[in-house]
Amino acid sequence: MFSKYRKSAAKAALEQPKIAKEDAAKSASSEIAPHPASTMRKPLKMQSGDTVPQDKERKRKERMGEIKVELHRSLLENLNLAALENAKETELRAEISSIAGELLEEKGIVLNREDRTTLNKELYDEVKGLGPLETLLKDDTVNDILVNGPHQIFVERDGNLELTDVTFKDEKHLMRIIDKIVSAVGRRVDESNPYVDARLEDGSRFNAMVPPVAVDGSLVSIRKFKKDKLGIDDLVGFGAFTEEMAAYLQAAVSTRLNIIVSGGTGSGKTTALNALSSFIDNEERILTIEDTAELQLQQVHVGRMESRPPNVEGKGEVSPRDCLKNALRMRPDRIIVGETRGEEVIDMLQAMNTGHDGSMTTIHANSARDGISRLENMIAMAGIDMPLKAMRAQISSAVNLIVQVSRLQDGSRRMTSITEITGMEGDVISMQEIFKFQRVGLTPENKILGHFTATGVRSHYSERFRMWGFDLPASIYEPINTEVQ
Ligand SMILES: Nc1ncnc2c1ncn2[C@@H]1O[C@H](COP(=O)(O)OP(=O)(O)OP(=O)(O)O)[C@@H](O)[C@H]1O
Ligand SMILES: [Mg+2]
Repeated sequence: MFSKYRKSAAKAALEQPKIAKEDAAKSASSEIAPHPASTMRKPLKMQSGDTVPQDKERKRKERMGEIKVELHRSLLENLNLAALENAKETELRAEISSIAGELLEEKGIVLNREDRTTLNKELYDEVKGLGPLETLLKDDTVNDILVNGPHQIFVERDGNLELTDVTFKDEKHLMRIIDKIVSAVGRRVDESNPYVDARLEDGSRFNAMVPPVAVDGSLVSIRKFKKDKLGIDDLVGFGAFTEEMAAYLQAAVSTRLNIIVSGGTGSGKTTALNALSSFIDNEERILTIEDTAELQLQQVHVGRMESRPPNVEGKGEVSPRDCLKNALRMRPDRIIVGETRGEEVIDMLQAMNTGHDGSMTTIHANSARDGISRLENMIAMAGIDMPLKAMRAQISSAVNLIVQVSRLQDGSRRMTSITEITGMEGDVISMQEIFKFQRVGLTPENKILGHFTATGVRSHYSERFRMWGFDLPASIYEPINTEVQ
């Protein structure tokens, strides 16, 4: 009954349960001592979850955790990891359940059916997947997973952060899962190399920072990959912006305005950029450059690039700027840079100014004006010695539109402003806001009350829109008068 997934040594061990039992009995000080015979047959699960005192439930959980760690260790010793690579899921689950059953019996531990099922599932997740994180990764309602040390895992659902009851056993357990993730992508994380960015197999973005830089245990952040990114219709449906704004943005993208999506961390920049890209014509050749490939463009002709940090020896870096410079030699119709955060800003602005109009990127900033300052800072930091006025002239002729997205305090994500850059007045870049989100108050449930409105200013590009066949009605520029919707 032994299969190809088991090691022959394990087979011998399992064939001598008596010896194993004696060993186990001797190791009274080991992590999990077998229960005395009198208590052995009691199921660990209590009668009713509601009436069980909290500390009993906690103890039960702790003991389950210990059993799991012990069984996992034995499982790894028993399984032939090479054969496991190509194992079929059902076969492997059956095998894990059978080995676990034997080990439990050997140790004299009896679990009820529910705990057995949970244990088998968790063991499978440990062997094949990412342990405790696996359940959260599979949960489609979860956007972000945030681990603050082994005993605290938060998730973001519907824009709100929630503490989960999922935990790792200890820091060692958490580190083992982190190692598993980063070694799969050929990276390493340890004291001398304490943080790492990676992409999980399913496309999710992964960042980890380990002790001692992370003071209370490893910090892990995962941005889950959404197979179906939110499209324009979804976002309008969620109230992230209005149909009028969508019509305006369609005209802006189609008539090749250069657009910057600006926003804070996790505010929906990549989602907005992805949605905007859906307005690009199918005939165009689009090149995308990202740190971690997240964009999912629907067009046929798309070339995707992912920049690469240096390896452990500090070699092999391919920066976003390298990708961008190279992209300019690849005959793109449009270039989309996932996020501009450093010296690549120079090449981005140059590309926008020299024939690759219709390009798009995102930046971290809290308003359109702030976004311009960020661009100026990035240029200065890149070591370009340029008078401020020249710098601003370069920015104002390169960028046509800044789309501001925000995650508001109630967790909702909205396009809070669409602002056009219209040129220079003296030393200052002139701008005009076309649409904005007008906040008017809070509901008793702390939900934000407000509405989107045009500002009454007609687009600087309306003539261009008309000439390209996007004759937007004047009414979309009319402000809404009602105070509360
Ligand atoms: N309008 C929206 N309504 C609901 N969920 C949204 C909306 N926009 C984005 N999201 C979700 O919010 C999460 C963060 O979005 P996104 O990755 O676009 O943010 P970001 O600003 O690019 O983040 P980062 O700064 O980490 O790159 C994603 O899970 C996304 O699906
Ligand atoms: Mg992003």
